[in-house]
Amino acid sequence: MNALKYRRTPTPELPNRQWPNNFLSKAPMWASVDLRDGNQALANPMTVEQKLALWDQLVKMGFKTIEVGFPSASQVEFDFTRRLIEEDLIPGDVSIQVLVQAREHLIERTYEALKGVKQAVVHVYNTTSIVQRDNVFEKSKDEIKAMAVQGAKWVQEYACKAEQHSPQSKFVFQYSPESFSQTETDYAVEVCQAVMEVWQPTPENRCILNLPATVESTSPNRFADQVEYFISHLQNRESAIISIHTHNDRGCAVAAAELALLAGADRIEGTLLGNGERTGNMDIVTLAMNLFSEGIDPQLEFSQPNEWIPVVEEVTQIKTHPRHPWVGEVVYTAYSGSHQDAIRKCLLKQQADAPWNVAYLPIDPKDVGRDYEAIIRVNSQSGKAGSAFVLAQEYGLNLPKWVQLDFAPVAQALAEKQGGVVSHKELYHAFENHYGLANSPIRLDHYQLDRVDGKERLSIEIEGEQWQGIGNGTISALCDAWQKRNGHPVDVIDYAEHALHLVDHVSEGKNAQAIAYVYLQHKERKVVGVATAKDSVTAMLLSLLKGLKT
Ligand code: KIV
Ligand code: ZN
Repeated sequence: MNALKYRRTPTPELPNRQWPNNFLSKAPMWASVDLRDGNQALANPMTVEQKLALWDQLVKMGFKTIEVGFPSASQVEFDFTRRLIEEDLIPGDVSIQVLVQAREHLIERTYEALKGVKQAVVHVYNTTSIVQRDNVFEKSKDEIKAMAVQGAKWVQEYACKAEQHSPQSKFVFQYSPESFSQTETDYAVEVCQAVMEVWQPTPENRCILNLPATVESTSPNRFADQVEYFISHLQNRESAIISIHTHNDRGCAVAAAELALLAGADRIEGTLLGNGERTGNMDIVTLAMNLFSEGIDPQLEFSQPNEWIPVVEEVTQIKTHPRHPWVGEVVYTAYSGSHQDAIRKCLLKQQADAPWNVAYLPIDPKDVGRDYEAIIRVNSQSGKAGSAFVLAQEYGLNLPKWVQLDFAPVAQALAEKQGGVVSHKELYHAFENHYGLANSPIRLDHYQLDRVDGKERLSIEIEGEQWQGIGNGTISALCDAWQKRNGHPVDVIDYAEHALHLVDHVSEGKNAQAIAYVYLQHKERKVVGVATAKDSVTAMLLSLLKGLKT
């Protein structure tokens, strides 16, 4: 590879740039170009029916401007625009947008497609970049500017005719200096200024100037410089909505758009999940979710990706990457033990109404329709924390640390045997089997506790045998009974119990209500016993007996 083959794209000097000191505080105006730019990039462009399915989805998400196509370019595009208008499918607060080149017959045909529309953005463009001026059009700067001015005049003239024909139609004009980011910025200002002179917009009746990075060729900071330069050199800036349209050739389309907003842009064009020419258009989902994750309401609804991603995938025939920002299948999943441990601890501390403060999870996965069950998946990398999280989350088991440690090798062995992710059910079954919850190795027939001289006296019947013991509490009474019966002392190192709420735990008694965990030492061994039962005392006695029998 010879890097000397390439050159840096020139961008303006901007020593007093302001954008790095700015913060975003509100959502921009959004315009979806899925049905136009996204569609133009597909090997099999969408049918009218597919376009309708995506249209419905975009409207549901809350887009107020949707570029529906290039009606003068093909019959499908024309027919789709007509269908939306004739079947009254455009909600009152939504504007359709249509793209057209600065050529008269195409502009005329575009207005035919718009006949009877209530409100529409007519988007005219011509390319202004150095390479296209020199090598494609072979025209001077003045000639290219004249094309833009002429296009703007036709757009205005045909709009007047259309408004005479259907006075209810309202048109907003949009101009794009295509390849803005590869155009000298002062020249882009000059061309846009000339277009504004034709349209005579006012602050109450603004036009849209859309600045495309048709091919992304600079770093996002230098694109932001271009945008800030453009805005600060445009006269009558308050009469124009400054729109940004970035592509993703360098993988920075979202960053470039975000910095362009800091530089003063008002509006963003893009597509869902970034479908579009070559590496794609700017992904609106990512940008909107970036804002959301910083506490800014994006004014778009992406909370159910399981519903809308299939629609996008069906019409584009492009699968979503599992690591796609914010909505990919595994983006809230932790496999590594230390991440799982941190997430589990933070989630336990997270109060419902407090600001989100969870390590490794930039937002609450529930906000995009993900359950916590999908967050932590147990595999051979997981360590004890992953199993503990899953058993707590799915089965309501709050394992003490010594149970987590005791059970970790069992989960590890299972994951290694399977060679992948262990499902929640498989993990729970392994837990049940390991601690004999489903088929208890011991039968407790009956017990009775009495208080005598401030002590607990326990009479217990185990598999037909009678045991007696006395102690300061139930556990010590059972240890005493065990020692009298078997001659060995028992030392209880730790003990825990809690109620069971989440699932019907079947075990030593159907529908167990309580679980007990005991950590004890006898015959120089440290063992863990776990038992479930209908009541906590039975669970406690059983856990100890199971530990002793281990
Ligand atoms: O990328 C681009 O420049 C475009 C224009 C037509 C706006 O899609
Ligand atoms: Zn584009």
